Amino acid sequence: MHFVDIINKKKDKKALTHEEIQFWIDGVVSGSIPDYQTSSLLMAIVLNGMNEDETAYLAKAMMNSGDVIDLTSIPGIKADKHSTGGVGDKTSMALGPMVAACGLKVAKMSGRGLGHTGGTLDKLESIEGFNCFLSEEQFKKQVEEVGIAIIGQTGDLVPADKKLYALRDVTGTVNSIPLIASSIMSKKLASGSDTILLDVKYGEGAFMHNVEDATELANEMIKIGNNLGRNTMAMITDMNQPLGNAIGNSLEIIEAIETLKGNGPKDFTELCMQAGEIMLIQGKITQTKEEARKMLMDAVNSGRAFEKFKEMVKAQGGNTAMLDDTSLLPKSKFITEIKAEREGNVEVLHSEKLGILAMHLGAGRATKEDLINHGVGLKINCKRGDKINIGDTICYVYHDEDLKEEWIKELHEAFVITNEDVKVNPLIEKILK
Ligand code: URA
Repeated sequence: MHFVDIINKKKDKKALTHEEIQFWIDGVVSGSIPDYQTSSLLMAIVLNGMNEDETAYLAKAMMNSGDVIDLTSIPGIKADKHSTGGVGDKTSMALGPMVAACGLKVAKMSGRGLGHTGGTLDKLESIEGFNCFLSEEQFKKQVEEVGIAIIGQTGDLVPADKKLYALRDVTGTVNSIPLIASSIMSKKLASGSDTILLDVKYGEGAFMHNVEDATELANEMIKIGNNLGRNTMAMITDMNQPLGNAIGNSLEIIEAIETLKGNGPKDFTELCMQAGEIMLIQGKITQTKEEARKMLMDAVNSGRAFEKFKEMVKAQGGNTAMLDDTSLLPKSKFITEIKAEREGNVEVLHSEKLGILAMHLGAGRATKEDLINHGVGLKINCKRGDKINIGDTICYVYHDEDLKEEWIKELHEAFVITNEDVKVNPLIEKILK
């Protein structure tokens, strides 16, 4: 097989066979296909797409390019959830313990943040001693005994994706539904859970800018998962404003804890509840949404959901005193209130901008090598559609360095206030299976 023939085939808008896709992925992992040829094929895929069969096979070939975790020794259904990435997204830390407290086994591998989006592992590392790097054996033992583990990737999972993603990042080939779907699903499939709930975000600050594209991506991923025997469902959710109020690592841990105790922001709590309902049904813990909601409410109101989070943190070496007394978590030196300069209705909260501003405070990374400051970030004090007056606090800034005027100006620009009525999209647009 000559790789240039495969590139030409895709350039001519033809579908690749399983053998051709396998030849490519094998060559990516072994290094026998040079980056310039892979980059060329990636661009041809961005421009000419892949059909359902090609995308599903690509996900499978990528999944099998490295270790595949086998969770079958753990009794019961093992569940996973994945968000395509957003600003203020601390869902795994609240939802995971909630459903685990209802008896579902949660086996979750998460990532780090880059650019305007934060990462679950960085957030968890706000807790002193928290260890994201368990061996496969430790991971399985914790899922079985505690009912939940959230860790970074173990072993050599999906090496093909590591190489392809690094190339896509620098060759303008990230934004392609077949490439995103196969990249995400190969990692989900390799991490071994039986059920997968995908939270596909749309809007500003998300990979997909509108509901239609998010739906197409979600359907593509659902097909891949279901074809490989994993019960896969998706929620299409709005990222046209941050999720909840907190953006930044320890601030988000605090918000997750408040939510686990039943005192979280309305939007974030509702997302966790609806996602929890789906996960409990996927995991055959219950059959109806109503029953699932009752179980989740009970787990929260009885304190079991928060206890489960503490149990997980303890099992992973974290200092649980910081969860009982969140003032012990990393803190910023200063807190500055930002006040509205005009009155009206909040029309837009630019989530991408807010994510980048939080990153500039030190809450995120501009490059993979940057260090995180766990104590800094933003706490939004209004949501789209809220009515506000001049002088109302719209945001609290948690910072260590003096705030520059330009930065404050940009923060104000992230809050668009209008005299018109504002129509707010539902947070959860639809649920797909
Ligand atoms: N997240 C991934 O893991 N892969 C993509 O291609 C895009 C987002």
